[in-house]
Amino acid sequence: MARKKVTIIGAGATGGAMAQRLIERDICDVVLQDDPQFAGTMHFGKALDESQAAAWEGFSTRISATDGWEETANSDVVICTAGAPRKPGMSREELLNGNAAIVRAKVAEAAKHSPNAVIIIFANPMDAMCHVALKASGFPRERVIGQGGALDSARYRYFVSEALGVSPADVHGYVIGGHTDTTMVPVVSQTRIGGVPLTDLLPADRIQQLVARAMRGGAEIGELLKVGSAYYAPSAGTIAMAEAILLDQRRLIPCSVLHQGEYGIRDVYSGTVCQLGEGGIQRTFELPLTDDERTRVVAAAAATKDLVNLITD
Ligand code: 2OP
Repeated sequence: MARKKVTIIGAGATGGAMAQRLIERDICDVVLQDDPQFAGTMHFGKALDESQAAAWEGFSTRISATDGWEETANSDVVICTAGAPRKPGMSREELLNGNAAIVRAKVAEAAKHSPNAVIIIFANPMDAMCHVALKASGFPRERVIGQGGALDSARYRYFVSEALGVSPADVHGYVIGGHTDTTMVPVVSQTRIGGVPLTDLLPADRIQQLVARAMRGGAEIGELLKVGSAYYAPSAGTIAMAEAILLDQRRLIPCSVLHQGEYGIRDVYSGTVCQLGEGGIQRTFELPLTDDERTRVVAAAAATKDLVNLITD
């Protein structure tokens, strides 16, 4: 059986962490693609270093690096991390046109070489970058998705689990809407712990503190790191998505998808719970929301649309 293949575009901190998580799962070969003018030979160094972990980590899949695109051909999944990360104090939105040019060029090449791939967009502002990728690839919505909800939900679940002293695995909660500090929508009304509503377990003001911290989750890490932005939790979220697709796990993971009527939203990328498996998005779920949550989800899509309108081709 042919091995599955994943291309990770961009071998910075995030791309390197994703490659490590993926290669240690032993489920696919990995190609790290980067440009010598930005990365020098770093992607070759990372691929070699990660390859040499095989004896102890026990994986038999391969990781290689390339400056070009031939080696990426016929990837099953392409993860695009290329683009400038946020600097401390910077919003994700400020990266708009610089990252749009990078994502456009990278995705066009990747799609040409891997016409059946599922593309996962990581670069910020992520929802807007999905629009760029959709256009540059010419792929259907099922195969161009954004990571954001997977990460934001992981942060939310962690803070809730910490407050309650339970495992994050047993906190069932989703963050949908946009992947910005102001537009993400942690769906408190549907958060359950052991089947019990979160609202029965914590007072409203405590929940609001957790929600606020989750929404600033990326900014908080950036302020602590001083250089660059988060990459451990972001890589975990993205690789959970890639694994669900590669192994046809049909997992329900919140991610950014071009809405086609979900929450009354059309033709805008926004987060909702998606069933991920072979071929990418197999189904979307519309959560039952309170009026306030629904208003915020609709506002999030409107904010993404405004941002997309500012993208210069
Ligand atoms: C974050 O929220 C990088 O957008 C990513 O940390």
